[in-house]
Amino acid sequence: MNPVKTVHTLDLVRRSRRLRRSSGIRSFVRETRLSADQFLYPLFVTAGTGVRREVPSMPGVFQLSVDEAVRETEAARADGVHGVLLFGLPSKKDDIGSAAYDADGPVQSAVRAIKRASPDTVVVTDVCLCEYTSHGHCGVLDGHDVVNDASVEQLVRAAVSHAAAGADIVAPSDMMDGRVGAIRKALDDRGCDGVAIMSYAAKYCSAFYGPFRDAADSAPQFGDRRTHQMDPANAEEALREVEQDIDEGADIVMVKPAMPYLDVIRQVKDTFGYPTAAYQVSGEYSMIKAAAARGWIDEPRVMMESLTSIARAGADIIITYYAREAARALTRASRQSGD
Ligand code: PBG
Repeated sequence: MNPVKTVHTLDLVRRSRRLRRSSGIRSFVRETRLSADQFLYPLFVTAGTGVRREVPSMPGVFQLSVDEAVRETEAARADGVHGVLLFGLPSKKDDIGSAAYDADGPVQSAVRAIKRASPDTVVVTDVCLCEYTSHGHCGVLDGHDVVNDASVEQLVRAAVSHAAAGADIVAPSDMMDGRVGAIRKALDDRGCDGVAIMSYAAKYCSAFYGPFRDAADSAPQFGDRRTHQMDPANAEEALREVEQDIDEGADIVMVKPAMPYLDVIRQVKDTFGYPTAAYQVSGEYSMIKAAAARGWIDEPRVMMESLTSIARAGADIIITYYAREAARALTRASRQSGD
């Protein structure tokens, strides 16, 4: 075959396009590789049996009874996803969120059932009060104020009950000060020193959580979460939050949301060199779903691009509602490329 005759008009030493010419060459020089091992899959657990109720603002995401949560976990494992993050929808709420530490609550029951059916699955539990309080705030109130230390006491009870049920990792998402240290101490005092803590360390006060509050029925009845979640404008403060949680005993630190805060993920990873998680939250997921439903974007490609960007920013663990779909896409891609 005759090489195509070309006339080079530019005197270039480096032509970056040489390494983009074929899929084989591109894969030699690819810097970020996604793997299903990185994905942690959130599940919303509710009372009853045989319940599988789709969340209207999150197509493909369901509120699941415990038996269905077990099935979903097993299906996820078949796709290559080996971790789940559990949220609970209690049947009763009160003003101090006491259902959060009900030994027979949906989360505690799901932890036991999933660990029984699938012992190797890493079971992580979200520790917060907002799904359990009648007012939808993440803690105990005094008037309209979320009271820090009294809320921490409640969160400790919730974390201990998750550990007692057999959770591998507890993940406090409330953003109260001092909760990581208090949870660590309470777990250790009860012989649960092997249970790890993944702290939602840099959790921003984000409008991207909107669809989640439908899914978890956790919207605040008044006010917002600005007095405890972080101001989206701040990055140095995120580093202080992460440092404090590490000092208090966090094993994994999280940045949340993910895509609007890629710079924060990168700084956290570079500064601390610590296991870092990032949460692609409900709004990030629902925006992709909604645009795809209108034919405005190519969903599979946007899904993979968004997850790749989060990994490239430095996240070791990616929490995503796309976990199963993305894991299947990775399997298909590796079959096609023959590796
Ligand atoms: C609090 C919690 C929230 C999310 C995870 N844990 C909501 C909030 O802080 O209001 C959001 C997750 C998402 O949007 O996907 N328990």
